[in-house]
Amino acid sequence: MLETKPRIEFTPERLERAKEIITHYPEGRQKSALLPLLHLLQEQEGWTPAEGMDYIAELLGIQPIEVYEVATFYTMYHLEPVGKHVIEYCRTGPCMLMGGEEVYAHLKQKIGAQDGETSADKLFTIKPVECLAACGWGPCFQIREKYYTHLTIEKVDEIIDELKK
Ligand code: FES
Repeated sequence: MLETKPRIEFTPERLERAKEIITHYPEGRQKSALLPLLHLLQEQEGWTPAEGMDYIAELLGIQPIEVYEVATFYTMYHLEPVGKHVIEYCRTGPCMLMGGEEVYAHLKQKIGAQDGETSADKLFTIKPVECLAACGWGPCFQIREKYYTHLTIEKVDEIIDELKK
């Protein structure tokens, strides 16, 4: 027997925000609200489950596949449950040339998780991403809106120890 997963909907407050966001776009172009609505979903659920994407498709009057296509294209949407802190580190050339390889290897060892994994204590998920537009300050990673730049092994230790408190 197929397992049915519970339907996911926005809370009343988020639904109001979603409706308001949709009004920013001309009639017939509601699909343009897709990115902010996916952000709302992730804000609510902590990640972007398929059931929530189906709900967004309904809200926008589009096919679920159109939502999946977008959500799977951008690394900022988490397609699996994640830890409290999602560390998105830049694996692009300039950051790697500035010592990224060694720094990121240390980071993964320190939190006990490899790319795409969550640490056993559920505190950290680590994701490699392309250029974070901080190329002159690499190696770097981002946790939510905050950037951590000029990373060294010592700096990684300080940051992770602080976040564990
Ligand atoms: Fe790392 Fe651009 S190459 S931020």
